[in-house]
Amino acid sequence: MKRILIVTGGGDCPGLNAVIRAIVKRASQEKDWEVLGSIQAFNGVLWEPTEIKVLTPEVVKGIHFQGGTIIETTNKGGPFAWPVKNADGTWSAVDRSVEMVRKIQYMGIDAVINIGGDGSQRISQALFELGLPVIGVPKTIDNDLSSTDSTFGFQTAVEIATEAVDKLVTTAASHNRVFVVEVMGRYAGWIALNAAVAGGAEVCLIPEFPYDLNIVKEKLESRFTRGRGFAVVVASEGARPKNGQMVYEQSDEVGYENLRLGGIGRALIKQLKDAGFAPDMRETVLGHLQRGGIPIAYDRVLSAQFGVKAFEMALKKDFGKMVSYRHPYFVSVPLKDAIVKPNFVTLDNALVKTASGLGISLGIDLNNP
Ligand code: F6P
Repeated sequence: MKRILIVTGGGDCPGLNAVIRAIVKRASQEKDWEVLGSIQAFNGVLWEPTEIKVLTPEVVKGIHFQGGTIIETTNKGGPFAWPVKNADGTWSAVDRSVEMVRKIQYMGIDAVINIGGDGSQRISQALFELGLPVIGVPKTIDNDLSSTDSTFGFQTAVEIATEAVDKLVTTAASHNRVFVVEVMGRYAGWIALNAAVAGGAEVCLIPEFPYDLNIVKEKLESRFTRGRGFAVVVASEGARPKNGQMVYEQSDEVGYENLRLGGIGRALIKQLKDAGFAPDMRETVLGHLQRGGIPIAYDRVLSAQFGVKAFEMALKKDFGKMVSYRHPYFVSVPLKDAIVKPNFVTLDNALVKTASGLGISLGIDLNNP
């Protein structure tokens, strides 16, 4: 009997369960493979006693349209930075990676499939270097992983953000207001840019292009005549003004290393008010609504393709690689290449040109950025 271990790490994302189901269904065609899932990323392996779930076709039945992950996830700690409480009540991190690799070998695991974003795939590469037979599957609603045309979960998030823009347009128009919709996107503005184009927003602010407040104000003013008019601004949570800071809080959660972003909508409204912009303004923060719930069909299909391909890579012992969608093919790329640089929106991107062609202001002068 051969064994495969599935791990879901980082923030959850619509489509995780569809990937798990696809791996299990494909594995069941091979007769001699058992599929296991580690609970809460690699924590299930590291805990004593371990928490490992046997994933049979019966267990994964019908989960392809369920949001979240049936084996849970975490974006805290991990094998390289395991939180340990000191005698004085403070916390420090210890490296348990070598111990974990031994434990996985002892469990008779032939392949590990790590489904996760940038941080998780860095862990995959580091574990591969320690001798673990790892395969990565790219997951992120932010779509900030390079080496693949897209990641599952992203289109569902765009759909949710677009639906919000559609709804806010009607209330903005009724009240002659500006609405700022704050969407996820820590360092990459793909969700905002896609939702702004799909929803017909007037302004789109993304982390890659720090905005000029005067340009934003002028664009919004052009939408009002004698106090009548409306506009929608889509802003990534990581957007910031030129020479300004992202809006965030430092988290006190043990093992959580990210900044907690949020509040750019409110901050922008204050900046506009201070600059003398008169119309009423409101902000809406979509937050984790973009990550929960059912994946749209596109993401279920992508997840199914990723899952089947990942298992077939395991059959071929194609380790140290990540599944990648390179239209129209599903290929494997070295993990070390996939984590070199993130997938950011660039000035020459086709969608930036489209947005500009539609008259959407990106808060900068595209001819003189
Ligand atoms: O990485 C994806 C993401 O959705 C970011 O856009 C966001 O900043 C982050 O996750 C928030 O995650 P959490 O609150 O779960 O730590």
